[in-house]
Amino acid sequence: MTTEPSLSEGLATTRAIRRYTSEPVGEAVLAKVLHLASRAPSGSNRQPFRFVVLRDGPVSLRVRTLLAEGAEEIWTAKRATNEFPDRAKDSPTSRMLVAMDHYVANLAEAPVIVLPCMIRYREPTVTEGASIYPAVQNLLLGARAVGLGGAITMFHQVRDSEIRQALAIPDEAFIAATVTLGYPAGANGPVRRKPLDQLVFEEAWERAPAWAVDPPGTRFTGGPRPA
Ligand SMILES: Cc1cc2nc3c(=O)[nH]c(=O)nc-3n(C[C@H](O)[C@H](O)[C@H](O)COP(=O)(O)O)c2cc1C
Repeated sequence: MTTEPSLSEGLATTRAIRRYTSEPVGEAVLAKVLHLASRAPSGSNRQPFRFVVLRDGPVSLRVRTLLAEGAEEIWTAKRATNEFPDRAKDSPTSRMLVAMDHYVANLAEAPVIVLPCMIRYREPTVTEGASIYPAVQNLLLGARAVGLGGAITMFHQVRDSEIRQALAIPDEAFIAATVTLGYPAGANGPVRRKPLDQLVFEEAWERAPAWAVDPPGTRFTGGPRPA
């Protein structure tokens, strides 16, 4: 059994995991991850989040097919854009394209897929996602805690009505994300982001305070931008 990472280590090393081993995810593990997801904050603690889990039941299999179709459609369109210019063999971009192709081609077989949904309690506003996306991030962090990996995607979007119908999702709820989960085929590692002095301001926009410094050894983004 692997020991759980510290909270700081988990936060710094929860990256998008898109390749999974064939090891099944046990129900006790899944329950723990969803428990952690359900500890997320929400406005007035209304807890409008719901998690629809897709494993191997007949409806789940049908929805997996719809999601795989959606992924294919979205990724094919995105791949055809000029967004990924540096396709030299073995470049970071070409490796990312191979990883994404593999992810999309195998999406229906992801060990577990979770559709975090939110029950709307007022007219949609720009902040309504604030009561569901903390739970989505908790889901990813909870997965990391128990040794699973996951990726948040929007692959449901182009099959939304068919998926809602198949799962009897009521009109007042919306699907906020499609999250694939499984044991990582590769290693976890620190995520790369922009340096703090590009992200943290004090007193005025773009005025980076001198104290906003990343810890020694931090690695930054510069590679290709994935999906
Ligand atoms: C709103 C949102 C939408 C995303 N949509 C997709 C998606 O459709 N497909 C996908 O493979 N990854 C998707 N991602 C995952 C991002 O690509 C990933 O979080 C980002 O590249 C950082 O990756 P890293 O944590 O491994 O560094 C999405 C992430 C967010 C927050």
